[in-house]
Amino acid sequence: MKTQVAIIGAGPAGMLLSEILHQHGIDSVVLEKHSRAYVLDRIRAGVLEQGTVDLLRQYGLGQRMDQEGHVHDGMKIVWAGRETFFIDVKKHLNKQFMAYGQTNIQEDLYLAGDRRAAKVLMEVDNLQLMNLTSAHPHVTFTHQGESMRLECDYIAGCDGFHGVSRQSIPQELRQEFEKEYPFGWLGILSETPPLDDIVYANHPRGFALASMRSPTLSRYYIQVPIGTDIQEWPDDRFWSEIKSRFPKEMADAMVTGPSIEKSIAPLRSYVCETMRHGQLFLAGDAAHIVPPTGAKGLNLAVSDVFYLSRALSAFYSQGTTALLDAYSATALRRVWSSVRTSWYLTNLLHRFPGGSDFDQRAQENELDYLKSSHHAQAALAEQYAGLPL
Ligand code: APR
Ligand code: PHB
Repeated sequence: MKTQVAIIGAGPAGMLLSEILHQHGIDSVVLEKHSRAYVLDRIRAGVLEQGTVDLLRQYGLGQRMDQEGHVHDGMKIVWAGRETFFIDVKKHLNKQFMAYGQTNIQEDLYLAGDRRAAKVLMEVDNLQLMNLTSAHPHVTFTHQGESMRLECDYIAGCDGFHGVSRQSIPQELRQEFEKEYPFGWLGILSETPPLDDIVYANHPRGFALASMRSPTLSRYYIQVPIGTDIQEWPDDRFWSEIKSRFPKEMADAMVTGPSIEKSIAPLRSYVCETMRHGQLFLAGDAAHIVPPTGAKGLNLAVSDVFYLSRALSAFYSQGTTALLDAYSATALRRVWSSVRTSWYLTNLLHRFPGGSDFDQRAQENELDYLKSSHHAQAALAEQYAGLPL
């Protein structure tokens, strides 16, 4: 097989890239390891920055999001025994954001792909990237028992954190920056009406978050120690624990019900520099991971795809490689800004096991400052809203 751009991975990054390239007249083939059902079953974060919303609309992918998504002007922060405060993104930046699950975006992207008969091969195996530093790279893999070879001009590595693309960059040519946090998030999805706002709580018992997917679907999280066994968290225990971390009036307003999904995610930050090797370009989780605090992961995948699609379009329409050559540096600048924001919010809102009294006081002072300073709130609002692409 032959194509212009081989895209590895049919997660949000890979499918969005294929859609945008198609609309710019560029041919691609997407190769995905898992089945569509498997990819669609993954529950991920669900807050879209305005830049993400605008981009999805621009490429005709915003219809269901605009019907079912929930627009927000800001988010609330509460911490033990104090009054809640509101980080007002609308007031400070005249921007909004949207609560709309990644699972829905993934569905929308697959349906858009179906409509244009996109070339997406699911359940491919043994995928290998070859001749990356030549002008004619190719990808080998097996599909339905057959050995295949895909020739292309460029390869987009959109295969997530555990994919093969990043590993195909020689170790000595990449630098890795990593931070693991000593806790995870236990999250549940429940068919109950959510609170009106997205609310982040810092509590002596640990961080907690109230979020949503739709007017009838809530998403809640609590900080749990690393190594926590999910079996130890039946729904009743989860509800009573999360209520204990919120002020009484919010706890009373939480409508409880059976969970329809429950999982634990570890928290880590990771960045791979460079995001390019020869004809291979990394995008999304293949190149970086952020802790979920602030919900930056999907938005970062979208900004990478924006820069990469723009660079590929410039190459195919004008023959210029300047934007491709600048891709890694351009994408990484924005990556680091979101990596820093999610690290900052993680530090601000969690209880760190073994943290000293000094750390605790400094954290409380930071919250106090944020609560009382218009300028501090404006700065956080700007970061939460996401920097322009
Ligand atoms: N060959 C082909 N496909 C692969 C391979 C491989 N060797 N390894 C992994 N994949 C596929 C995975 O099965 C997955 O469907 O690549 C896809 C990567 O998708 P994601 O992990 O969702 O990554 P990305 O598209 O970058 O989306 C980033 O996902 O993890 C969240 O918070 C993150 O919201 C962000 C978003
Ligand atoms: C979510 O709804 O899953 C969510 C919301 C906000 C976050 C993280 C996750 O900061």
